[in-house]
Amino acid sequence: MSPTKLTACVFDAYGTLFDVASVAALAESLAPGHGADLARLWRGKQLEYTWLASLMASPGYQRPDFAAVTAMALDWAIAALVLPLDATARTALVDEYRRLAPYPDARAALESLSRHPRWIRSNGTRAMLDPLLAATGLRDVIDGVISVDEAGIYKPAPSVYALAARRLHAPPSGIAFVSANAWDAAGAQAFGFTAFWINRAGIPADRHAPSPAYIVGSLAEVATILTGLESPARAARPAVRTAKRRAPPRASGPSRRRA
Ligand code: LAC
Repeated sequence: MSPTKLTACVFDAYGTLFDVASVAALAESLAPGHGADLARLWRGKQLEYTWLASLMASPGYQRPDFAAVTAMALDWAIAALVLPLDATARTALVDEYRRLAPYPDARAALESLSRHPRWIRSNGTRAMLDPLLAATGLRDVIDGVISVDEAGIYKPAPSVYALAARRLHAPPSGIAFVSANAWDAAGAQAFGFTAFWINRAGIPADRHAPSPAYIVGSLAEVATILTGLESPARAARPAVRTAKRRAPPRASGPSRRRA
């Protein structure tokens, strides 16, 4: 991405700006000894249901929205762990998605990118995302929100990324797309965005799709790279050198600039 090309920054929400594992604290208080497992199984099943819902799209199938998917995935995780959680506890856990903890560097990173439109594009419904932005105080550092509900399908369907490009009136390569979900970063890169994958846990890079343009360790690193690209004094230095590689390169595939 050249400095003149960046026209907008688009962020994934859950797992990228907001820590989905933060539900573990409430889960632990409701089911002592099982909080972390419940949070992990819940998130995994939630994502699986979104992918299945996209694959099952047909005239006779009503896609459940992310609020429904989240509630169904919680039910599955509670059943899998055989936890005695009643309807009140389940409601409390689902409600927690409206006040997830933002990552500690989220606000500063978003503030530093204020020269460009900063949007969220998420699987979440607006009824989930708007209260979350209000509760976490990030509303004033986000310029717009797009829910996949407008596309009628979940990520990583290309039409979801196309929706963001259309809304921002920007060529895909001029959009810095930031996600800590590897599959989402892969989908964005495949669509044509300049993808930043935040690999906080240092897990191996996925093999099934184009590598994201940048692999970094934090939102703060994304902000450093993007503000560096904008600065004429620093533009000559390839920004990729400032990005940490957290995972080994793919064994094969097209040669591309990457962290
Ligand atoms: C989102 C999920 C995928 O915010 O994290 O879209």
